[in-house]
Amino acid sequence: MLEIEDLHSYYGLSHILQGISMVVPPGRVIALLGRNGMGKTTLVRSIMGLRPPEIRQGRIRYNGHDLVGRPPHEISRLGISLIPQGRRVFPSLTVEENLRIAWRPPRDGQREAWTVERVYELFPRLAERRSQRAKTLSGGEQQMLAIGRALMGNPDLLLLDEPSEGLAPLLVQLLRDQLLALKGTGLAMLLVEQNVGLAMALADEVYLLEKGMIVYHGTPSDLQSRPELMGRYLGLSK
Ligand SMILES: Nc1ncnc2c1ncn2[C@@H]1O[C@H](COP(=O)(O)OP(=O)(O)OP(=O)(O)O)[C@@H](O)[C@H]1O
Ligand SMILES: [Mg+2]
Repeated sequence: MLEIEDLHSYYGLSHILQGISMVVPPGRVIALLGRNGMGKTTLVRSIMGLRPPEIRQGRIRYNGHDLVGRPPHEISRLGISLIPQGRRVFPSLTVEENLRIAWRPPRDGQREAWTVERVYELFPRLAERRSQRAKTLSGGEQQMLAIGRALMGNPDLLLLDEPSEGLAPLLVQLLRDQLLALKGTGLAMLLVEQNVGLAMALADEVYLLEKGMIVYHGTPSDLQSRPELMGRYLGLSK
């Protein structure tokens, strides 16, 4: 369980996250929605221990461990993986090399460990391209590889920063099915999105972020019944 309490993060003097509190329970998918520049990436970087930003106030706990002040490699060892915005993969390594170097043993035997073959079952396109260098993959394929790399770390919690960004509608549908399959394995996810449809299809709970503050928390169906919120905070008209 990830618990964030009254988190304040800064870039220099800019006070970006202004008292965020949220919970990601085990095995649940929590969506974080908000427009450009509202602080979504700042939040996932804060969780993952990446600097900048600088955390000046608040607590982040994961399964009882305090995360604030820990370096990213320790946080990933506790079972959290980030798929950063813009899908970073190693461009000159092949698909298979990218996957193999990301492997970490699972922390306990509760779930089946991820292997290269299991990632290929989830993403058959990667299997066909296993010897291809990552930089020659399409955008959608690179996103699959970025997710595959995160899975190879055998996380319990996946942080996904706008995985659908830049994908054509058909690929977004494919991504949704793949993420639903992952949800079925009991993996918890914090899904940062601007694609409201994708978030609604996957999430158990939704948070809306506006200028570094949580302005709404509820279920997808509750949010969908409140077009005024969707209009005000997501720029969607109904
Ligand atoms: N390294 C940085 N230094 C200074 N300011 C930054 C830095 N990174 C982000 N910011 C600012 O912090 C604010 C929040 O940015 P953030 O990247 O968290 O937004 P976001 O919600 O992820 O937006 P997007 O949807 O465009 O990715 C923005 O005003 C941005 O300009
Ligand atoms: Mg962002």
